[in-house]
Amino acid sequence: MSVERIEPGNALWPDCINHLKRVNMARWVIEHGSELIEGLICLGYVREGKVIGHLTFKVQDIVCPATEWSGGEELIVRGADGQPLTETYVYTFAVEEKYRRRGIGRDLQLAALDWTRRLGCYQMRSWSSTDKEANYALKVSLGFAIHPGTYETASGYPVSGVYFVKTVGGDW
Ligand SMILES: CC(C)(COP(=O)(O)OP(=O)(O)OC[C@H]1O[C@@H](n2cnc3c(N)ncnc32)[C@H](O)[C@@H]1OP(=O)(O)O)[C@@H](O)C(=O)NCCC(=O)NCCS
Repeated sequence: MSVERIEPGNALWPDCINHLKRVNMARWVIEHGSELIEGLICLGYVREGKVIGHLTFKVQDIVCPATEWSGGEELIVRGADGQPLTETYVYTFAVEEKYRRRGIGRDLQLAALDWTRRLGCYQMRSWSSTDKEANYALKVSLGFAIHPGTYETASGYPVSGVYFVKTVGGDW
């Protein structure tokens, strides 16, 4: 059993796509039938040669949204050295139903935090609607900060939820 990066071309990729379909998340991260959306990294939890859990994320700058007040400009947040701060932003995360409550979700989150640290990012962030009770319990058990907020779907429909954030950078 292990958490490993799975990419198109990898022997486990077809099975990973089937897993993404089983947990109803393929539509968020797969395009053209079998390609991972550009820039995403997929971590799979593999048991006896099969993918039974996953987490996808991308690396991005931490950006303050543009407003009229900011003169229509986005602001990239910078560290003390003036360099842009980056984050890993989680797209999808799920464990197949029959394998839940065995610590697999926690292992995937810890692996993603380790990737976040090794990629030199400042924090890991995700958003979750308020109906994801297991995810909330897991994030709280791992000490994630909670920032309540809404998320607008592509059709402009606002959904209530929270951003979960955990820093891996800084020196304190
Ligand atoms: C969220 C999810 C990935 C958790 O996976 P998991 O492998 O079952 O989680 P873990 O076994 O690692 O749980 C770790 C801890 O989280 C908490 N937790 C997890 N599921 C919980 C639940 N249903 N109720 C209460 N606490 C829960 C517990 O503290 C648990 O530790 P414990 O079992 O020692 O008490 C899984 O429930 C899932 O796939 N849900 C559907 C998809 C989803 O909501 N994805 C996230 C938002 S998009």
